[in-house]
Amino acid sequence: MAAPHMGAQPHRLPLDRGPIPSASRRGETVRHAATPNARENGMDRLSKPPSRAAQVLVVSRQQNFGIDASQFGPGWEIRHHHQLRDLPRVVRGSGPMAGVLDLESEYTDAEIALLEQSLQCLHVMWVAITSPQRLEDERVRRLIRDYCVDYVRVPFSYNELAYTLKHAHGMAALHAARGPDTAVQGKMIGECAAMRAMFRSLSKVAHNDAPVFISGESGTGKELAAQAIHEASNRRKGPFVAINCGAIPPHLVQSELFGYEKGAFTGANQRKIGWIEQAQGGTLFLDEIGDLPLESQVALLRFLQQGMITRLGGHQSIPLDLRIISATHVDLVAAQAEGRFRSDLFHRLCVLTLSIPPLRERGEDILLLANAVLAEHGHEAHRRIRGFSPCATQAMMQYGWPGNVRELINRVRRAIVMTDNRKITAEDLQLHGNSDAPRKTLDAIREEAEREAIRSVMASHGFHVVPAARELNVSRVTLYRLMHKHNIRVEGQSNHAE
Ligand SMILES: Nc1ncnc2c1ncn2[C@@H]1O[C@H](COP(=O)(O)OP(=O)(O)OP(=O)(O)O)[C@@H](O)[C@H]1O
Ligand SMILES: [Mg+2]
Repeated sequence: MAAPHMGAQPHRLPLDRGPIPSASRRGETVRHAATPNARENGMDRLSKPPSRAAQVLVVSRQQNFGIDASQFGPGWEIRHHHQLRDLPRVVRGSGPMAGVLDLESEYTDAEIALLEQSLQCLHVMWVAITSPQRLEDERVRRLIRDYCVDYVRVPFSYNELAYTLKHAHGMAALHAARGPDTAVQGKMIGECAAMRAMFRSLSKVAHNDAPVFISGESGTGKELAAQAIHEASNRRKGPFVAINCGAIPPHLVQSELFGYEKGAFTGANQRKIGWIEQAQGGTLFLDEIGDLPLESQVALLRFLQQGMITRLGGHQSIPLDLRIISATHVDLVAAQAEGRFRSDLFHRLCVLTLSIPPLRERGEDILLLANAVLAEHGHEAHRRIRGFSPCATQAMMQYGWPGNVRELINRVRRAIVMTDNRKITAEDLQLHGNSDAPRKTLDAIREEAEREAIRSVMASHGFHVVPAARELNVSRVTLYRLMHKHNIRVEGQSNHAE
């Protein structure tokens, strides 16, 4: 198989040019970029050297597949790995890195399964190298779609690859900076105090088997949180079955949930296993539980009390071992008061609760999420986008986000496709003028004013807390508490001012 190469350059084995092997492990070689060659090639502007060498893991089943380390300029450390069997261990044991995944080679299904195990770790962000022919293979498309932040097609330019890898490396560092909760929160991005508190609760409920009720406005990430609970629980090897109770026609809810036997009713030509039974051994996520019709609530309650179901038309009770997570954006307390939701079921479902904060209360997480969406979908643009303009950043911070994370994803994705600018503007996000933004409450306006006052006074004192506290006429401790509350960081530090 040919190694990837620069379009305009004659093909040569990447190892010919004398990058210096600095270490060697089983199935692995490490090379540092050779600066002079990079200069000769005019590549020195590719990448400002990061303060420490940025690690890149190049993965291929082919021993002769390589990336020419000398093309990257200084500050990169390129490691090659071709023993797929060892890859999960190597990836798990590494720090934040960018990964290059050779998807130009062909892989067996077993090798793909090995790759998938390794690609899931969020502290390594992958860029695939592939060819137009290989993109015809759905398995290749799926690997790119589900696990890679970007891909390049052969023949590619090292300029393009280095830019993409730099981005991937930055994303990996962001994920790694989340700390030990990473395994718990799954794909959820969040660093503000409210989200960190939520991740801590998520970790606790994940290690318990009692039913969990997740509350939160529409689009805040309730389903993602349910998946994260499942992934962090000891049922992670079992199925995760998500049902939207509001989307099933009321007359079909019972048969969909509990299944039926052949001949149970006209049209029941064969036995059907219901959703609840399909979750055996795993987790059943009952989304929009507030929309469950009353008669199905009774049947669900019976199952929760007895741990058994009976299929419609069946006589046998089937014992089930599964964990229930439920969610709704409906106010269940009001629904109980109005007789639309059974109190006994409510208490059974809400043994543990998890509350997801609305996006407008997540401070700079809004920008973190927007950048993550840009990193993931930036390749959908017709030109390279270099971030968000100051007006876009300000508009995102001021907007009320009634549709929460889902709305943010949609706005940024639309802006990526529609923009003609190098940086996404407030107009691209359709947030200019903010005329259709919902009105803010007095509390929200106060909070925002408090946050802005603290930010500007801190900035005017070079982020020194003592003089800033003096000017604001509060104690140092109060100022630290307020900075923590508003997720304001001391510039130059990556952590929260906690
Ligand atoms: N913290 C997060 N980090 C990254 N993506 C997120 C986060 N929270 C939500 N999302 C994404 O936002 C979208 C909406 O999330 P999800 O479907 O889990 O929300 P929901 O609360 O279940 O919404 P609804 O109430 O409408 O059912 C999804 O694409 C999800 O991947
Ligand atoms: Mg949902």
